[in-house]
Amino acid sequence: TYLGIDLGTSGLRALLVSEEGHPIGSAERHYDVSHPHSGWSEQDPADWIAALEDAVDELRAAHPEFVALKGIGVAGHMHGATTLDAEDRVIRPCILWNDTRSHVEAAALDAAPDVRGLSGNIVFPGFTAPKLMWMRDHEPENFARVARVLLPAAYVNLYLTGDHVADMSDSAGTSWLDVGARDWSDRLLQAGGMTRAQMPRLVEGSEASGQLRADLAARWGVAGPVTVAGGAGDNAAAACGIGALDEGQGFVSLGTSGVLLAARDGYRPDPASALHTFCHAVPGRWYQMGVMLSATDSLNWLARITGATPSELTAGLGTTVQPPGAVRFLPYLSGERTPHNDAAIRGSFTGLGTDTTRDDMARAVLEGVAFAFRDSFLALEDTGARFDHLMAIGGGTGSAYWVRLMATVLGVPLHLPKGGEFGAALGAARLGQAAAHGAAVETLMTPPETGEVIAPDMDLHPAFAAAHEAFRAAYPAIRAIQ
Ligand code: XUL
Repeated sequence: TYLGIDLGTSGLRALLVSEEGHPIGSAERHYDVSHPHSGWSEQDPADWIAALEDAVDELRAAHPEFVALKGIGVAGHMHGATTLDAEDRVIRPCILWNDTRSHVEAAALDAAPDVRGLSGNIVFPGFTAPKLMWMRDHEPENFARVARVLLPAAYVNLYLTGDHVADMSDSAGTSWLDVGARDWSDRLLQAGGMTRAQMPRLVEGSEASGQLRADLAARWGVAGPVTVAGGAGDNAAAACGIGALDEGQGFVSLGTSGVLLAARDGYRPDPASALHTFCHAVPGRWYQMGVMLSATDSLNWLARITGATPSELTAGLGTTVQPPGAVRFLPYLSGERTPHNDAAIRGSFTGLGTDTTRDDMARAVLEGVAFAFRDSFLALEDTGARFDHLMAIGGGTGSAYWVRLMATVLGVPLHLPKGGEFGAALGAARLGQAAAHGAAVETLMTPPETGEVIAPDMDLHPAFAAAHEAFRAAYPAIRAIQ
């Protein structure tokens, strides 16, 4: 059996998978994010380990198959800075991906020569390098003790194997990695005030990073040996779980935040578009994604202030997609990453009239989010990505209107998975299996069975493409008055 661990922002999920790749059982534990100051977001790595141990205990008790464990893969929330001293003690709480305290350092590093060119990305405030620059300036005593910096998944790998190892996909989100060359960059490290000695050893996500420590194997009652994979950042792991490895494969995730991810067979960065270009968790491949910060969050907000539930709001629209409405919504409630890289921008409604109804506003929210996805879709197309369909996942896919609208606005069919497991935990387990057996990743990382195929309404597509142009023009105008 294989164990996939998804170290999420709000909790850890451990999934046990059979030799044939079928889910056997899962266990989940939650932990907190602390916000000691506005814009700060931190976690105690000890909470991750406690969650892991509890989840493993539950799985062991429920599933005798656990004793046959052969491989483990860990997927983690990306970009977090876990700083360790020379004895591997955690120096301060991990600074998370959604912490924005280092926006000044991020902007400075982003403007430094070669940085975008080597890292392939804008230095977003959430990325790892600016967090260490912030520590250097604001916590010099802590900074002086930093012997090693590990991403959250690599910290769990350290616990499992006793070794400092990180995978390429997660390391690509640090702004220290030469993402095209898949190696630490001395130039980037120097720009961020770090050294190679402070970095973990790099492996591919589907390669072995080490073996499960003998004392842990004994305590967990597994016969062993158990191989621990390099693992992955959560988005790369999700791509492994949904079988998005090759050019043309990708997914839209209509969750709290929105992700449009495309697997790429080559390295084609386009930092100016605010797309993220990261190594995939398997060798020789990359992936690119647009990230929008408020997807279902936008609808949840409208529901909150109107006293309706999100499903009441979408149910009011029926299932037949209407042409673009007169009301427009810019979904920038928490700022935006792709395509604007603008933490300060906020959302807006335009085109309101005395006849505007709650349904009109709900429709505008769904359209605004779909247009924001189209921004990322077009940015991906500009780098040469092409799709004949996309998988669609996330809570928002529960709305038939929203999925049809999304398909129509993007102009591609959306495939809804039939159900079951296809997320980051499954992707992580598949990495564990690949690392343990050297099995071909193509045969392990297959797409889930498609349930429904949602076709775009191509008669309406041109009207939405034109409305998207108006949506695009609204951002600079609104920006100028905010
Ligand atoms: C990706 C990102 C998030 C985190 C948290 O760039 O910041 O998706 O990985 O899950």
